Amino acid sequence: PDSKVHMNLLEDHSFIQYKKQLENLKVVKGRLNRPLTYAEKILYAHLDDPHGQEIERGVSYLKLRPDRVACQDATAQMAILQFMSAGMPSVATPVTVHCDHLIQAQKGGPADLARAISLNKEVYDFLATSCAKYNIGFWGPGSGIIHQIVLENYAFPGALMIGTDSHTPNAGGLGQLAIGVGGADAVDVMANLPWELKAPKIIGVKLTGKMSGWTSPKDIILKLAGITTVKGGTGAIVEYFGDGVDTFSCTGMGTICNMGAEIGATTSVFPFNHSMVDFLNATGRGEIADFAKLYQKEYLSADKGCEYDQVIEIDLNTLEPHINGPFTPDLATPVSKMKDVAIANDWPVDVRVGLIGSCTNSSYEDMTRAASIIEDAASHGVKAKTLFTVSPGSEQIRATIARDGQLHIFEEFGGKVLANACGPCIGQWDRQDIKKGDKNTIVSSFNRNFTSRNDGNPQTHSFVTSPEMVVAYAIAGDLRFNPATDKLKDANGNEFMLKPPHGVGLPPRGYDKGENTYQAPPKDRSQVSVAVSPTSDRLQLLKPFKPWDGKDAFKLPILIKSLGKTTTDHISMAGPWLKYRGHLQNISNNYMIGAINAENGKANYVKNHYTGEYKGVPATAADYRDKGIRWVVIGDENFGEGSSREHAALEPRYLGGFAIITKSFARIHETNLKKQGLLPLNFVDKSAYEKINPDDEIDIIGLTELAPGKNLTMRVHPKNGEAWETPLSHTYNAQQIEWFKYGSALNKMAAAHKS
Ligand code: F3S
Repeated sequence: PDSKVHMNLLEDHSFIQYKKQLENLKVVKGRLNRPLTYAEKILYAHLDDPHGQEIERGVSYLKLRPDRVACQDATAQMAILQFMSAGMPSVATPVTVHCDHLIQAQKGGPADLARAISLNKEVYDFLATSCAKYNIGFWGPGSGIIHQIVLENYAFPGALMIGTDSHTPNAGGLGQLAIGVGGADAVDVMANLPWELKAPKIIGVKLTGKMSGWTSPKDIILKLAGITTVKGGTGAIVEYFGDGVDTFSCTGMGTICNMGAEIGATTSVFPFNHSMVDFLNATGRGEIADFAKLYQKEYLSADKGCEYDQVIEIDLNTLEPHINGPFTPDLATPVSKMKDVAIANDWPVDVRVGLIGSCTNSSYEDMTRAASIIEDAASHGVKAKTLFTVSPGSEQIRATIARDGQLHIFEEFGGKVLANACGPCIGQWDRQDIKKGDKNTIVSSFNRNFTSRNDGNPQTHSFVTSPEMVVAYAIAGDLRFNPATDKLKDANGNEFMLKPPHGVGLPPRGYDKGENTYQAPPKDRSQVSVAVSPTSDRLQLLKPFKPWDGKDAFKLPILIKSLGKTTTDHISMAGPWLKYRGHLQNISNNYMIGAINAENGKANYVKNHYTGEYKGVPATAADYRDKGIRWVVIGDENFGEGSSREHAALEPRYLGGFAIITKSFARIHETNLKKQGLLPLNFVDKSAYEKINPDDEIDIIGLTELAPGKNLTMRVHPKNGEAWETPLSHTYNAQQIEWFKYGSALNKMAAAHKS
């Protein structure tokens, strides 16, 4: 290690490496010869090869070495199962797993937690034992939400982290570059491979002035979402700068970075500043703060004169409180305008439920500001008109507000305190106050509000705003209410106005850690055995895929020629299939069931090449596999667009697929296919797609000389008529060709590990 400063208080083997990172940065600066933004500095300081890496924003693919990986429980299952099949004794990079997504809100914290522990026992047991085995920190159910725990314990300025959850960027509030990825990327980093990212563009957001009144950090990102829309940040990092940056708390910056995911940004980040020092001190990490100060100028801030691809300015002096929604987080409305907008759009103005907390907004500051409004209302004898729930982001937050009285204030107000978990934010909500299909409005301090997300009811109009505004709406019970101008009536019918919120950024008496829910990996891990029941329908150990037989492939049937858009949702649907994320055999029953068969225009209805019988895609594929026959899929443009879901590549491999041949691929899916040992190939002549009939048989020729940049040949045997040939291109590099030969990237890793 190049310093004795630990990255956190929980791991004794990981140290901050500012010195090495600064050396890397100097190499890159010498080559680029221009001032760098803060986000660029963190990225380039983590390059695998700072000397040779090509760097052009928006063009090059960077090979990076992240400092750590964080996984939530829904995505961790397949990531760990895959890591296990690499045959390594422990993860190569610090990793933590967080149990937060599988806890349903019903009765309130303790009862809901107990129910979740029994319902998800086998998943939790698997995660706890596999974490212990492979040297991974395990945060059990009840510990809190991944991003809050990362902020409180692991994030620090200048670090690079990946996480298997889209709101990983939350840690940008502590000056860390934190990026949400799919499980396959996490596995690479766990297994010591560099992680690849297209060099992002950088959007600079300049903050000037200072907020006051009802305006809070949440309003910065609500406003920004309105400016950029949900797509505006795609392929870019949002970097904040300007005087306004130093006027609010570190957790407020976390909220802003968290919701950067809603504009599609790769991540968001704030430069190191005094609020981060305060937060590090308050969370017992003063040593890190002192160390960071030494590197502030050279590493932990943007260079003077650096250039952004785009600059957006927000004046905090004039920024109004906002409320965004319904159905999309970029539909931004100032609270003062909501009255007219709601009526014009016929949105239900009766607010039914107010929900605060979640990974976005459950800091001590959020809780104290929300509580200040409630106390003010209580002094007039007024309580919540709506239902009201609180989802604490972590056990530390829950215990601290329990000790300091805010929790009691929420309960007196009529609130229900839920488990420290995602709960209603991810639809884990047994909502009873309305029937499915009832048109209604809810207001939350969460980040996402897509149709049906919170309660599965497409008629629920879900709005997102700051926690203090949620409380104001809960008191008024009306979406048209504006606390800055409108009066309320007290218990005696006298009019009064709510005072603007006030709160404290950090608990004056320090944080109370609450119950200890962290399981550190044991020193001696050799005796730990990983718990997977052979009869489980939710978890299944992975068996290594067979290596390539060293020959060209002949007379392969076409499982399906898919027509038009084929996204990862068509390839591997979500919804009810989520519970099988840790069971490859079961989840493979959704393979391509959403794709349209070019032969008949139907979904999940394909002809078996040998029996002539029409059946679902997964059943037909399994039949081929069981007969020892490999198959191909023919696809259209941008095949596999959508999420980075690795199941979309694992499933066809599990079902015996050999090649996926398309007009073009979405890049992440293409890489995922390569990783699983399938051949993603492209028509050089795109008109060949039209010529192929689903009944044809396919030869793939030239595999014995597979080399970067060298085309293969596809020979097509129509049922009746002459065979014809067409060239196929691919994007394999030399290392990826090894993945194909070994049968998968993990097989290759396992072999390297054995030797
Ligand atoms: Fe959980 Fe919602 Fe955050 S699902 S991680 S609380 S965005």
